[in-house]
Amino acid sequence: MIERVGDGQLYRIASEGVGYVLGISHGLPLHYWWGEDFAPSAETVLSPPSSPPPYSVVEDPADPHWSAARAALEYPGLLAGDPRGSALIGTSSAGPIFCPRFIQARVYAGRPGLDGLPHARASEADSSTLELCLRDLPSNLLLMLSYTSFDGSPVIARNVRVVNEGDSPLVLSRIATSSVDLPRGTAMDFISLGGAWARERGLDRRRIGPGTTALGSKIGISSHRFSPAAVLLTPETCEDWGPAWGATLVYSGNWTMSVERDDTDGLRWMMGVGAESFSWHLEPGESFCCPEALLAFSTEGLNGLSRRWHDFVHDRILPPAWRRRPRPVLLNSWEAAYFDVDETRILSIAEGAADLGAELFVLDDGWFAGRQDDSSSLGDWVADPGKLPGGLERLSAALRERGLAFGIWLEPEAVSPDSDLYRSHPDWCLHLPGRPRAEGRNQLVLDLGREEVREELAGRVIEAVQRSGAQYVKWDMNRHLGIALSATSSVERQGEVAHRFMLGAYDLMARVTGALPDVLFEGCAGGGGRMDFGLLYFMPQYWASDDTDPVARAAIQLGTSLFFPPFVTGAHVSASPNHQTGRSSPLSMRLAVAMGGVLGVELDPARLSAEETRELREGIAFYKSRRELLQFGTFYRLQSLPAAGPWSPLAPADVAWMSVGPDRRRAVVTWLRLLPVANPGPVRLRLAGLLPELRYELRRAGTRVSEASGRELCTRGLEFQPTAGEGCSLITELAAVEREGD
Ligand code: DGJ
Repeated sequence: MIERVGDGQLYRIASEGVGYVLGISHGLPLHYWWGEDFAPSAETVLSPPSSPPPYSVVEDPADPHWSAARAALEYPGLLAGDPRGSALIGTSSAGPIFCPRFIQARVYAGRPGLDGLPHARASEADSSTLELCLRDLPSNLLLMLSYTSFDGSPVIARNVRVVNEGDSPLVLSRIATSSVDLPRGTAMDFISLGGAWARERGLDRRRIGPGTTALGSKIGISSHRFSPAAVLLTPETCEDWGPAWGATLVYSGNWTMSVERDDTDGLRWMMGVGAESFSWHLEPGESFCCPEALLAFSTEGLNGLSRRWHDFVHDRILPPAWRRRPRPVLLNSWEAAYFDVDETRILSIAEGAADLGAELFVLDDGWFAGRQDDSSSLGDWVADPGKLPGGLERLSAALRERGLAFGIWLEPEAVSPDSDLYRSHPDWCLHLPGRPRAEGRNQLVLDLGREEVREELAGRVIEAVQRSGAQYVKWDMNRHLGIALSATSSVERQGEVAHRFMLGAYDLMARVTGALPDVLFEGCAGGGGRMDFGLLYFMPQYWASDDTDPVARAAIQLGTSLFFPPFVTGAHVSASPNHQTGRSSPLSMRLAVAMGGVLGVELDPARLSAEETRELREGIAFYKSRRELLQFGTFYRLQSLPAAGPWSPLAPADVAWMSVGPDRRRAVVTWLRLLPVANPGPVRLRLAGLLPELRYELRRAGTRVSEASGRELCTRGLEFQPTAGEGCSLITELAAVEREGD
């Protein structure tokens, strides 16, 4: 709901108990509030206290007592009186572009279009938008800020479009999508999700000190180093209590996010397309649309915030055909065979997969045109006749006979210099004549800003998938763009190449996924290098990390769960010792962690003992029979790892989470002790999300262990005795006790 309050320019955006209030004053949109909803008064919002600090510049000569230095601004451009960072930096023939001034506002049903960028899905019937138009003179840059509110969700989408309405070119060197000056006076913590390849989305919580905390990516993908998503929270806020503000970009390319604490503890939180190496040239009449930013708030701590994101991903981000659609249990060939792929080997692994109860076999890298290792063949998406003499067609038919659907791995955005595609079109990669063509993993990146490249690739990829009968595609991207340069862009437009690449990649994804609506696409970029809401708009599943070690994975998945629900998070049981860390762990623990996402398997079943085969088969059967609950139930983190600092070897490193069914009558609780503890004491775990008045029966491994009320389980908790030794995990099922007359 969006309302104009009173007669002045005061607006309240409110949904599901969360309000966002802004008003126009001194020619600028001023921020007033984002948090628990209330009815604002025009008088207080439109005349905020902000006396000029000594020696500061007076911004509005009509009101020398007002200062931009300490004002809460909605979109801070270049203002003489504001010493904080700007959302917009650009130049026109008249010099620097100043902060645009308000001209008009309107509220309309629906949401703005986004020129091919992914965005929250909405219709005129279930969303409304506040649009503010601002203009800078004499450059004649028109800036349209918009705020979309969605029925049934407290998430707000922010968008920015600029139009050059002047008669000479403009150049933008920074343009953020969202900037919020939060009310001052509260100490705040900041949570970012970051790490590296195979260590993605580690949770880091820190107090915001003076100055600027900045994150981002300049490598062309949203990156393993930081996710374009973060949380602000009060120091007291914990998993289940307290205010938490979350924000994410619906974007997979270069991005930037900063939190600036000023001299009077005001916080400016800004995010948008990556500013380093970015510039955008606007001829008269041209416009630029920023990637979308989403803002969410909860008073129910981090779990409350996560639930809002999970619901939003399901309802507004995923391709609609994949909402509540169960994800199959797959076996992926990568850690089973790597590049050593041939029909006999694959069929033997697939037979093992079918015997374990998997439903889909995924042939990962190594199946196409002479691919023996990572040095060749990307771009030539035809089966290698030496490895697969009957092609993918014969293989997928053989799998179908064994009751398995078929899936393939592709890396459409890259090309190997040693490939027919490159030999036919050596100019199709991102490069600038006269500069070296930088390689990474022996490959180049295709220039997806070019229509002819996208058209050819879309045709090749669609044909490969259709001919093979694949019902699943793992869409990988194993390279950073580096310094993105294009042979077809003019010198003054080279700063646009990284964003144009991303627009092209989205167009390619839209064409391919649109032509194959029943195929399940799982995104990947060396594991979690591009796990963001932009990718999920096209692909309803994502391979969260190449690290399949359950100890490391538990931390990765808990960090991931801050924004991403289990039904998008690919998670596999792999071999022990683990291929990434070398650590050994019991199968029960590997299963427990993989069941925290979309369960898959990534090992050669022939290498399992009879006992392990039985255990894995039973685990898969358990998962399949509770799939709806485990994939789509409400997810609660019960015990997370400490957000900062090393684990103490003396303190148990325990983690726990649970999934609760829609009617709250069934739940599955997972508890893990990641590091062994000698002489362990009993553990007490407070559950969440149960109905207090219901009684639940508790079962482990199919055996009844006890019964308790929801109230007791969510207050006193569940008590149990862990075993000593390595890799202890416990899965407890809860079912409401049906009594006669219930
Ligand atoms: C990187 C992915 O993350 C892996 O799972 C695997 O698909 C390899 N690429 C294949 O090259």
